[in-house]
Order: sequence, then C-alpha cells, then structure tokens
Amino acid sequence: MENLKQIRELMIRNSLDGLAIVPGPNMAYLTGSKFHLSERPVIFFILQNEATFILPELESPKILDLDVNFITYDDKEGPKPAFEKFAKTNSIAKMGIESRIIRHLELDLMNSTAITSDVVDASNIFAKLRMSKNRNEIERMIKAVKIAETSLESVLGNIRPGLTEKQFAADLVIELLRNGSDSELPFSPIVASGINAANPHHFPSNKEFQYGELVIIDWGANFEGYFSDITRTFALGSKIDDELLRAYEAVKQANESARSKAKIGVQAGIIDVAARSVIDELGFGKYFTHRTGHGLGLEIHEEPYIKPDNDFILEKGMTFTIEPGIYIPNLGGIRIEDDIYLEDSGATSLTTLSRDLITL
Ligand code: CO
Ligand code: CO
Repeated sequence: MENLKQIRELMIRNSLDGLAIVPGPNMAYLTGSKFHLSERPVIFFILQNEATFILPELESPKILDLDVNFITYDDKEGPKPAFEKFAKTNSIAKMGIESRIIRHLELDLMNSTAITSDVVDASNIFAKLRMSKNRNEIERMIKAVKIAETSLESVLGNIRPGLTEKQFAADLVIELLRNGSDSELPFSPIVASGINAANPHHFPSNKEFQYGELVIIDWGANFEGYFSDITRTFALGSKIDDELLRAYEAVKQANESARSKAKIGVQAGIIDVAARSVIDELGFGKYFTHRTGHGLGLEIHEEPYIKPDNDFILEKGMTFTIEPGIYIPNLGGIRIEDDIYLEDSGATSLTTLSRDLITL
C-alpha cells in the first residue's frame, strides 16, 4: 500500500492518532479490494506504527496480499472479541472516521471496547488523497466514458413515440453491461422526457415518449471502480417549443464557457460563475437550480465541487463534471454534462459526444 506514508503524514498534520476506514471508496482506493458494508463489520485501522484489519474470516482472502495485520472473527463468536483483542494493545486518543459512511454498528464496537471514545470526521484527508488522479486512474475513467458513449449510441435509435422512459433505461443498462461496465453502475440512468425533464433527478417512469419533446439522458459506466457521468439532451421530432430551443442554446453556451475557464490554478467557483452568468444573461437564471458540477472518480459525487463561491484552487489531475441545466416547470428541461480532466495543457473533456441538439 504505497499511500500509507502519505496518509500518516496527513494524520499528523490533522492531529489524528488513528483512522478507521469502512467498506467504500476509500477502502477500495487503499487496498484495491472491494468489500460491502454488511451486518458483518469490516474495518481497517491505520495508526502511525501499524495497520490492522478486523474482518470476517470468510473475507480474509481479500487482504492476504496486503502487508497489514488482521484479526478475523466467525459468525459464531461475532465481531466483538476481535475488537476487544485490538483494544488490548491499542487505545486511540483521537480517531478519524468517514462520517458519511461509518455506522452506529462500528462506532459502538469501537466505543464499547474502549478502542476510542473521541472520533472526528476525516473526510478531508481522503478527499486530498483522491482528488488528483494518476495516469492509471485516468485511463480507467476514459474507459468508463467510452463504454457509456458507445452504449448510448447503440441504443439511442430505440427512442420513439410509444416506448416508455423505463423501457429505454432498461435497454441502456443492458448495453452498458454488455459493453464492459462493471455490474455495479455508478447510478441508475435518468431518462426524463417532456415535462419530466423539468425535474433534474427524475426517475425513469412508465411515461411514453412523444414527438415534440426534449429527452434528458444522464447515465454512466463503471470501469474497475472508476465512473463516468454524462448527460445529453435530445429532441424527438422537429417541432420543439421555441423557449426550449433557446434554453438549449443557453445551456450549450454555458457548458462551453465553463469548460473554457477550467484550468489548473483556477478557483472552482469561477467555473460555476462562467456557466451561470451565460444562463443569467440569456434570461434563464432562475431555472438553473443546481451547482455546475462535482468531482468524479471512485464516487459519483466527490470533491472538488464546482459550486458558487467555492474558492478551492483546482490542481493538476483533478476530474470533475461540468453540467449546467435549465428546468422550466411544466415545459421541460435541458442538461449537458461532460467529464473534465485537468492537465498542464488545460482542461480535457473525456466526453466526446456532440453537444449540438440531435433530433431523433
Ligand atoms: Co450526471
Ligand atoms: Co453529475
């Protein structure tokens, strides 16, 4: 585990005596193995002088290649004796935890066995580690984008009046898996047509597509744990409401303006302003109801967040989405979302699909 040294330095800087990591993106990042959060707790403690896994016996083969200590338990005895054993030689004054993932189950086991009584959120340490991607991670994200794009292109022709949003979502999911996405998709595709597209997080429904509608499709693939997250908006037939056509151009320009501002050394909030000011000027400001983008990688939403007033300075290797949208109640909506990667030479869009309004 090459990152341990870096983590231990970050722990010192944050006055943490230990870290408790549970199954999720950080554990996957550190160990390269996948665990699920289940009723059988798995926890990875990192201290300055050692690193120990507590895990069910049946999961132990996953960590045999790692140079770490481990304590296993079986279903008969349950996890508590393993925590007690760890507590005998370790008492951690201040433990960093992943506040959005760890559960009462693990916190209670740590507390009741006196491993620690003082926990603080350490999400920032992991964000710092994971935000800038190396070449190997970028290659996997590029693959995740390719799988997503190829899959959409091969089923897009299925959209026609009479087909439902849910039926199309099913076609897309099957195609993603066929084209090599890991079976655990980053999220269930959003397929939102007509007035449903006015809801940015619509769930595909039994509504049938109709001519004259815009259709938002927001989907992604997972390649070896790394995600893509893309949105394109299509027109079904040529008779589209004028206001929606104007809104489409505004979103397209906003996406372009935001991408042109993205580079190393820029504050994340500046990219948000670039998108938002275009939409404001074209009169649709009140319909752009979310941030411009979010970091992307092992998680679908991670740091850095491309949101108003974020003065976080973007660095080399960071990956995030740019996804302005306009959502007009009872009429429809538009979103154009790209996956961006920051290199010395500037911002590269990993997404390659056309951003022009394509008529189906
Ligand atoms: Co998306
Ligand atoms: Co997104």
